[in-house]
Amino acid sequence: MPILDIRNVSKSFGSLKALDDVSFCVSAGSIFGIAGPNGSGKSTLFNTITRIPFGPDRGEVLFEEAPLHRLPAHEIARRGLTRTFQRETCFDKLTVFENVLVAAAYGKPGRTAQEHRQHAIDALDVMEIGKAAYGRNADELSVFDRKCLMLATAMATKPRVLLLDEPASGLTKPEIEKSIDLIRRIAERGVTIVLIEHVLTFLMSLSQQLMVLNQGKVLAAGDPDAVIADPRVVEAYLGTRKHDA
Ligand SMILES: Nc1ncnc2c1ncn2[C@@H]1O[C@H](COP(=O)(O)OP(=O)(O)OP(=O)(O)O)[C@@H](O)[C@H]1O
Ligand SMILES: [Mg+2]
Repeated sequence: MPILDIRNVSKSFGSLKALDDVSFCVSAGSIFGIAGPNGSGKSTLFNTITRIPFGPDRGEVLFEEAPLHRLPAHEIARRGLTRTFQRETCFDKLTVFENVLVAAAYGKPGRTAQEHRQHAIDALDVMEIGKAAYGRNADELSVFDRKCLMLATAMATKPRVLLLDEPASGLTKPEIEKSIDLIRRIAERGVTIVLIEHVLTFLMSLSQQLMVLNQGKVLAAGDPDAVIADPRVVEAYLGTRKHDA
C-alpha cells in the first residue's frame, strides 16, 4: 500500500489548468522526486495535497489510505504530512529555538513543556543546528541556515511524509552536497520524502522514483534514469523540436 496516493487531482486558476488530472503513488520509506519546467504545477501540487493554502478542485488525496479532503491544513500536518516552502519561510522575529519549539508544541496538548523542548532539540540535532545558533533571530541567518531551520521546524512536527519544495534552490555547490546528506539523514529516520527540485544532480542522487510535470500534466514517471532520458522530458526541458517534414 502506498503511504500517499494522489488520484486525478486537478486545480485551475480561472482558465489556467495548473494541475490537470494528476495521479501518482509514493511508497512508504522512499524518496519520490518531482521535476518540471517553471510553472508546470509542482508547487500547486504541494498546495493541494497539504491544503496550504487551498485544496484541489477535483480528485482525491489519500494519506495512509485515509482521504484528506475536508480536513483543514493544521489537521493534515498533525496527522504526519508536513511541507516546506520554495522560499525559506520562518518566523523572522523569533529565535531559531523558538521557531522549532512552535512546531514541536503546536497542537500537542498532552505533553509537558520539557517534552516539547526535547522534541525541538531532537529536530535541531537532525539538521545539525548546534546550541550556539539557538538564540539567533531567524532573519539574521544565511539562506542555507534558513533552509535548515525550515527543515528542522518541519521535523519537529514528527512527520511520516515530508514534502520539500526546492530545498536546493539558491544554494552553493558545497551547500547542495550538505543538503543531500541532511535529506538522506531524514530519510534514514523512516520519513518518506517527496522532493521538488530543479537542480537535477540533487534530484537524481536522492530519488528512487521520479515524476516530471509539464503544463499541469504528468509527462513521465518511474525509474529516474529512464524518465530523464525520455525524449518528451528532454523536449519539455530543452525545447528541442522535431523538424517539420
Ligand atoms: N494562487 C495562484 N493564483 C493564480 N495562478 C497561480 C497561483 N498559483 C500558481 N499559479 C499559476 O499556476 C501555474 C503553476 O504554478 P506553480 O507555482 O505550481 O509552478 P511550479 O512548477 O512550482 O513553478 P516553479 O518551478 O517556477 O516554482 C503557473 O502558471 C502559476 O502562475
Ligand atoms: Mg514552484
